Amino acid sequence: MAETTPPAPPDLAAAYEQAKLEINRLRRRLDAEGMLRPWQVELLKLQQHLEAQNLRMIVLFEGRDASGKGGAIRRVARYMNERHCRVVALGRPTAEQRSQWYFQRYVAAFPTGGELVLFDRSWYNRAMVERVFDFCTADEYHNFLRGVTGFEKDLTRQGTILVKLYFSVTRAEQARRFERRRTDPLRQWKLSEIDLQAQDRWDDFTNFKYEMLRRTDTRPAPWVIIRSNDKQLARLNTMKVILGAVDYKDRSADLDFTPDPRIVVAGVDEVALMEAERRRLGRFTG
Ligand code: ADP
Ligand code: MLT
Repeated sequence: MAETTPPAPPDLAAAYEQAKLEINRLRRRLDAEGMLRPWQVELLKLQQHLEAQNLRMIVLFEGRDASGKGGAIRRVARYMNERHCRVVALGRPTAEQRSQWYFQRYVAAFPTGGELVLFDRSWYNRAMVERVFDFCTADEYHNFLRGVTGFEKDLTRQGTILVKLYFSVTRAEQARRFERRRTDPLRQWKLSEIDLQAQDRWDDFTNFKYEMLRRTDTRPAPWVIIRSNDKQLARLNTMKVILGAVDYKDRSADLDFTPDPRIVVAGVDEVALMEAERRRLGRFTG
């Protein structure tokens, strides 16, 4: 009869180390969330100001997959009054929507007086993801780039406050986040067909990102780039940028509202950085 080896005793020391690591991870997370609170209080004041003055505001969040848009939006919206703050994430267009003016379904979700609308992706889908995956024709893409600046100019001239944020991650960081989506059961739902191709199509995305920033960074509607490899810093600085866009009442005198220049870059400067890189290497990498 074959001898059976007795089961190995549980490795308590290893389990203990594992638990300690997990507790530390949770503690760091709690600290990070808590750190945002003073700015979240300010965001509430901003919202109340919009309400009191009957102002309309749109903040749009663009960026590649896994760039952290969703997480930042959740932190911004966290304590807001849901009656006056909406998050809009439109899915792929239906046949009916496809037959409409391109901007129509977005406009349908625009704010009325006193409202703040946060767009998780936006009409800029046409400038990147739709173009990369041929969800639109080359003509539709060119028409979009030609029309969008005037569209935004009119929107802002008529009083809507518009903030355009582009979340920027590095290729390696995106790969790391996808890997976590693959392996973490709590994140698997986030992994889409499109995500699976984002790494392969990295350079295409970069080229269209460059065109988008170059063509649509305007004085009435400039782009703000948020370097989002560090999620916590990206979220905090997103809040600072939004708070800087409105002159609301009772702003805290002791809080730091200055965006960190390592994290927040103006659209024109990003374009210049990309051009310098292309001159140096003959191609884009970011
Ligand atoms: P998300 O990053 O928002 O979780 P996906 O990565 O699946 O979603 O898709 C990225 C974007 O591409 C979404 O805004 C989605 O609506 C859009 N999209 C996906 N398929 C199509 C399509 N066939 N036509 C137009 N847009 C599409
Ligand atoms: C993204 O950037 O893909 C989405 O915002 C999901 C996220 O990172 O939360």
